[in-house]
Amino acid sequence: MLITGWNKAGWMDQPTRLGDRIGRLIGAEPGCTVVGDTLSIKVYQALASALELRPDRRVILSDTGNFPTDLYMAEGLLRSLDKGHVLKTVAPQDVVDHIDEHVAVLMLTEVDYRTGRLHDMAALTAKAHAAGALTIWDLAHSAGAMPVDVAGTGADFAVGCTYKYLNAGPGAPAFIYVASRHAHAVNPALSGWLGHEAPFAFDADYRPGAGIERMRVGTPPVLQMAALEAALDVWDDVDLADLRARSIALTQAFIAGVEATCPDLNLASPRDPEMRGSQVSFLHAEGYAIMQALIARGVIGDFRAPDLIRFGITPLYIGIEEVNKAVEILADIMANRHWDRAEFRQRARVT
Ligand SMILES: Cc1ncc(COP(=O)(O)O)c(C=O)c1O
Repeated sequence: MLITGWNKAGWMDQPTRLGDRIGRLIGAEPGCTVVGDTLSIKVYQALASALELRPDRRVILSDTGNFPTDLYMAEGLLRSLDKGHVLKTVAPQDVVDHIDEHVAVLMLTEVDYRTGRLHDMAALTAKAHAAGALTIWDLAHSAGAMPVDVAGTGADFAVGCTYKYLNAGPGAPAFIYVASRHAHAVNPALSGWLGHEAPFAFDADYRPGAGIERMRVGTPPVLQMAALEAALDVWDDVDLADLRARSIALTQAFIAGVEATCPDLNLASPRDPEMRGSQVSFLHAEGYAIMQALIARGVIGDFRAPDLIRFGITPLYIGIEEVNKAVEILADIMANRHWDRAEFRQRARVT
């Protein structure tokens, strides 16, 4: 089709069409979610726009457990703005006590990437709003893992990736949600041509597109979008309450199985399933080698420095048989020290 595909195959509308399908999974009102770029870029866009909506405030509040790229992107943005903003990070449990009238934006990842600890999105958003602050929620470990209600909780901005629980493949594009009350007011910092009101007018001056369209930047990755579209087909009939129930049953079974058979592994995730997402992590000083030994036996999780092994239990694709099998293999590896081999200590570039 060459360039005719942009019209014939609807490639130009993919970012908003897929955005709305993800929107259903995160409780977004229609027309408020768009797909594109990487999550780091979407964090930058959300924060830049949120700060412009709070021009008299200078504090961005986040937590020390946030994913580093969110904090790095904020640091870079604040440096370019050079307006005296401060990025303040406190322990996750202390966030609630630091929301005050100086905070411009509360920027948090709902489910901690290391431990799976869940922030109370509704309560923190309500407190932020009462103090006059805006909220940005990173849903990287929430979307497709559990029900999310961005509109119901009143979140101002949300961002997330599609290559984790949504299973759209490595490098799959990210998404951004902007609440309908802000979508026509925000001023995009990354004012690319596809976020322009009329990209094919090729005007010399930027005019933001209608609503969420303005959060688009450049040419969408059509092949990656096709993979995302296929990945999303699976979600159409999924009831997110069922998904959550299954996630809790599987993560509880995994924790019980590991604790019964692996006394040397310490649970790093909250024990109460209501306080965590759909991942379970354990601590061990030899965590890296243990995860490599698991991967060699087909149980694929990841290691997060310095000592954490993380298991993403994707409720849509994993069943109790696999959870039981993973426990059995892990128990064997621990009891017989199968991890204790030089090849498993060899650090690869990606852990
Ligand atoms: C919570 C969170 N935010 C941001 C990112 C980074 O996203 P990207 O590499 O798509 O920019 C990740 C990656 O795993 C993440 O877990």
